[in-house]
Amino acid sequence: MNRDDFYLLKQDVIYLDNGATTLKPKVLSEATSKYYNEYSANAHRGDYDMSLKVDMEYEATRKLVKNLINADKEEEIVFTNNTTDSLNKIVFGYYKNQLQKDDEVIITLTEHASNILPWFELQDLIGIKVKYIPLTEDYKVTLNNLKKVITDKTKVVSIALVTNVIGDIRPIKEIGKFLKEKNIDLVVDGAQAIPHMKIDVQDLNIDFLAFSAHKMYGPTGVGILYGTSEKLNMTKPIIFGGGMNATFQSDGFRIYNDIPSILEAGTPNIAGVLGFKAVLEYLNTIGIDNIQKYESDLKDYALKRLKELDNIIIYNENSEGPIITFNYKDIFAQDLAIYLNKYHICVRAGNHCAKIVKEAINIKNTVRISLSFYNTKEEIDKLVEVLSNNKIKEEII
Ligand code: ALA
Repeated sequence: MNRDDFYLLKQDVIYLDNGATTLKPKVLSEATSKYYNEYSANAHRGDYDMSLKVDMEYEATRKLVKNLINADKEEEIVFTNNTTDSLNKIVFGYYKNQLQKDDEVIITLTEHASNILPWFELQDLIGIKVKYIPLTEDYKVTLNNLKKVITDKTKVVSIALVTNVIGDIRPIKEIGKFLKEKNIDLVVDGAQAIPHMKIDVQDLNIDFLAFSAHKMYGPTGVGILYGTSEKLNMTKPIIFGGGMNATFQSDGFRIYNDIPSILEAGTPNIAGVLGFKAVLEYLNTIGIDNIQKYESDLKDYALKRLKELDNIIIYNENSEGPIITFNYKDIFAQDLAIYLNKYHICVRAGNHCAKIVKEAINIKNTVRISLSFYNTKEEIDKLVEVLSNNKIKEEII
């Protein structure tokens, strides 16, 4: 499906590390080059045609993102550097001021570092308590298990929609409805979900959503922070400087801009945002439902093929996302990844930035394949063929 749209897929490579970052369609570099070569002015600062064109394109990207996640208003979309940056902006710009000692924030053991470490920092800073939803036997979140840890001190639930090691899809709609009734905030790390499925922030009752362009075929260095306008209006900037202020004086008096500009200090990644616009338009031509269906079928196929192999231990067989996490018996995960690289097969090995997953699955290092709509059954067959080699252990040692 659409492999010709990607320069890199002309190379002899089987790219199965889409959870780390996806490959980029040609439209991205074309749009980026066009900006650099034809109208590379700054954004929101000039009064001449080139700069006004940049402003229009930049704001048109914001509108596309708004439509992508069905936000209510364009001002609810803030451009950041990446998911980590988005989450830090809300933890330290909003929750640091809203939460008090002993308030509880609920996460899970299978979160990525970027949805754990900022909360740990806040725990040290103001004395909130970080708590964990007990996971099911196959490491999933259920509303019932969430209810077990909710108390009258619970103020926030901050979880990924799709996790990056287990690849489970959380029942966010059920959770969002329940939390809204309880007046508890829902923060969602959407980084691993947004490339694969529709996210409707209003339907899901999400208060804040964070994701990155580079995991959805866009440029590195562009992240998105969505927040309801009510909450974003109460979010203090954690970066100060150009672009975010309306005026300031030598006596320290200052007035900052409204959202989203107040949260976008400094010259942004203009080329990235404009490139992202082209990518969003490209993705719209494929359709997220088609992507989800294709990837789900491919994942089922990959699971079936991997399960034919005696030496493969799969940790997330029942997960719904396009991620398979496994080990080869008695082979260290990273050694296997290096071995696969000999066949130009790219996978991720290690702890995948999710360093407390091991407390749930009791395994520190795993190999992960994460699929995209441009992967094929033939690529999976090649992976299985390489893993079927009887001499694999001797060749690695
Ligand atoms: N968070 C990215 C991953 O899961 C880097 O690989």
